[in-house]
Amino acid sequence: MSPILTPHTLDFISHSPAQTRRIAARLATLLRAGDVVCLEGELGTGKTCFVQGMGQGLGVKVPVKSPSFTLINEYPATPPFPPLYHIDLYRIKSVEAALAIGIEEYLYGEGICAIEWAERVQRIIPPACLWITLRHLNETKRNLVMQANGERYEILIQQFRELAFGHVSSQT
Ligand SMILES: Nc1ncnc2c1ncn2[C@@H]1O[C@H](COP(=O)(O)OP(=O)(O)O)[C@@H](O)[C@H]1O
Ligand SMILES: [Mg+2]
Repeated sequence: MSPILTPHTLDFISHSPAQTRRIAARLATLLRAGDVVCLEGELGTGKTCFVQGMGQGLGVKVPVKSPSFTLINEYPATPPFPPLYHIDLYRIKSVEAALAIGIEEYLYGEGICAIEWAERVQRIIPPACLWITLRHLNETKRNLVMQANGERYEILIQQFRELAFGHVSSQT
């Protein structure tokens, strides 16, 4: 599959859970307080795996787990990184329910938000965000498509492209 080379999208394949974590860890080092990373994809596509990698990148000292019952987990990071807010909306069926658990406090808070099942609350996701769609290709391969919404995230994707893949000068 050819990577799509536009300023605001990045389309690639992860070949293992370890690679997904590594990619996410690299991305996380470029993030800052207030950033919002949305993760869309069926069960088992690697959303939680990706957030675990983000935790590693931010120097979170405890294992990042699925916040199945709490819905939102807040992880202190290693300075200078801001905290990681891991939000999992698997059990949330409506925007109203998400608002009721206080999602907005996190979306506009002082940490980095990583949101699983973000499509369920698309209406209240800030217009500027990084949207990542994960697809199951086979047992160990996942297609990840990152889409930047807003200038801040276009810059982020460019920085990430260079950090993770080096300068991409031609289609490969
Ligand atoms: N390339 C890959 N990236 C991420 N996870 C993968 C990959 N290949 C296999 N897996 C497996 O898929 C599962 C992903 O689980 P998880 O991250 O909890 O998904 P989700 O949060 O999307 O439901 C894990 O069992 C993981 O080991
Ligand atoms: Mg999950």
